[in-house]
Order: sequence, then C-alpha cells, then structure tokens
Amino acid sequence: MPKRRYKFDSKEKAWIREKIWLPVVKREVDEIHKANNKDSVRYFTFCGPLAFDIELLVVDHKMIKENDVVTWEKDEKARKSAKRKFPWLNIEPIQFDSLWTTTLANTKHRFDFDIINLDFTCRPFRNASGEMSHELLGIRELFRRQRISSKSFHLFLTFNANYDPLAHDGNLSLTRVIYDHARRFGFHEGYFRLATKGVEDNHHLYILEALPSIIIRFGYESAYSVSCIFKCFYVPHDRPTRHPCMVSFVFKCEWTNPPLSLADSQRWGGEVGWQHSEQLKRDQLTALKLPIVNVNFTMRQKKKIKK
Ligand SMILES: C[S@@+](CC[C@H](N)C(=O)[O-])C[C@H]1O[C@@H](n2cnc3c(N)ncnc32)[C@H](O)[C@@H]1O
Repeated sequence: MPKRRYKFDSKEKAWIREKIWLPVVKREVDEIHKANNKDSVRYFTFCGPLAFDIELLVVDHKMIKENDVVTWEKDEKARKSAKRKFPWLNIEPIQFDSLWTTTLANTKHRFDFDIINLDFTCRPFRNASGEMSHELLGIRELFRRQRISSKSFHLFLTFNANYDPLAHDGNLSLTRVIYDHARRFGFHEGYFRLATKGVEDNHHLYILEALPSIIIRFGYESAYSVSCIFKCFYVPHDRPTRHPCMVSFVFKCEWTNPPLSLADSQRWGGEVGWQHSEQLKRDQLTALKLPIVNVNFTMRQKKKIKK
C-alpha cells in the first residue's frame, strides 16, 4: 500500500526541499564557515502543521540552529500541531501580508535573515484594494526591512498558480506585466499566447514569467541586486482529490551597499534601484530566459533511469 501522505508532504514538495532548498542552505553555511565567521544561518519560514522544512534543515541535517529559526503561521491548528511536533519552535501568530501595513516600530522581529522561505498556499495575483495583492506588497516591505541590516539573503518563494476567473484585478495586473515585457524586451512568446488565448490557458507559465520581474524590481528599490536562480512548477500529490498547480522560485538577493550620498537618508537605501535601471533590465531578462523545471516530469525521468 502506498505511504499515506499528509498535507504539504507530497513527493514533489519533498523533492524541492531536498534538491533545491537544502543545497542553497548548505552553501550559505559553507560560506559562513569559510569566512571564519562566528555567525550562524538565520531562517524565516511559515511552518505549516508539520514543519517539514524545519525537520529537514534543522533536525536531520543540522544546518541551522533551533534558536535561529523564526516562524510565522496564521493558522491556529497548524501552530498547535507544529508545536506538538517541535516544542522548542518559536512560532508567532502573525499573518505575513499584514507586514506592509505595520510600521517598522511595531514589528518585534528584526529582519536580518540569511534564508527567507515564503511558502504560500495562495495565488500571487488576486483581487486587492490597490494594484497588488497583499502578499506582493508584503514582499516589497520585507526588502525594506531586510535592508536595515544590510544583509544579503536567499528568498524561497512558493505560490499556487491555478487560474481564478473571479480574480479580475489580479489577472489584469498579471496581463499588464506580460505586455510590459513584450514592450521592453520584445519577448513575444508569452505575449502571443496571451493575445490569442488570455491568461487562463497555462496560467502557471504567466506567473513563472511575471513574478521574477516584480521581485527583482522590489529588490532594486531597496538596494538589493536580485537574481532568480531557480524556477519550477509542480502538481503536488498529497491529497486524494485537489491537486493545485504550484510554482516555486529561489532568488539570490545581494545587498549592493549603495553610497549613502545617493541614498534616501531616512531609509539608508532609498530608491537607488533607479540608479541601476540598465542592470535591473538585464537581471529581469536573465530571469525570463532561465529554464523552467517541471518537477513532476523530472522526477518521472529520474525513476525511469533508475529502472
Ligand atoms: C505550504 S505550508 C508550509 C509548509 C512548510 N514550509 C514545510 O516545508 O513543511 C504553508 C503554511 O503557511 C501558512 N501561511 C500561508 N500564508 C501565510 C501568511 N500570509 N502568513 C502566515 N502564514 C501563512 C499556512 O497557514 C500554511 O500552514
């Protein structure tokens, strides 16, 4: 009988944790050791009910110390369940997307993480009060807070990529990013698909195209040079019925150490992204050209080779 899979425990998600997240964390740890630095890797995540990422990185591989993990979890049941599994876990009942509305003085946590894992279950483009979803606004705010510590970091980002016909504003924002790419980069594949079929068909491909440009732009606004180093999609088989299509990314966010004479002194970084607009364009283009990994397909191929 096949092993019972819990929520967020699909083989596909386990593949991402082990093959993508774990090596990135290992590289961070190695770099810190090489620099002969006494620091350790600080990790921010949403733990979910069974905290599989924490189990892998902290408990099994001992890459991160227990005290260096901060987790926010909006769901009470998930918090209780994770706490039962790991009683030492520092879990805050905070909703990440509230970050963009809270002032700096109101946040207890200093954002000086080496790895930030935003493992969302929602879609990135939704109806919102303004142009952008609260999750995206939260990510923009995250860069602003992280830059106070001047720390470079890796951002793991996961979203649901199923099409939602009711998310008119979200779908419109997504369409506008694709048109913007066509205009600035002459990038035609997505544009033609969009013009003939709309964003409904192969919705995940539009998100894989648009999201990196947005994240790279947010980073530049806060004096981070951001490169997208991995992007994939997968259909997780962890539930008997519902199988959403998910997208997942890894971004390397390097603090550019801007001269303070160019920066907005209030925020020690300012909108220096404008100073690098050619660089910004190059990084967005590189992210557009980065090959997309189909995790389900890759796993099937590996199985065939083993046989
Ligand atoms: C995919 S699970 C996390 C799985 C975990 N990272 C792992 O590897 O096992 C996502 C969890 O994040 C929580 N979550 C989603 N959006 C959130 C937000 N905006 N703020 C706080 N928690 C959130 C959900 O309640 C859910 O339990």
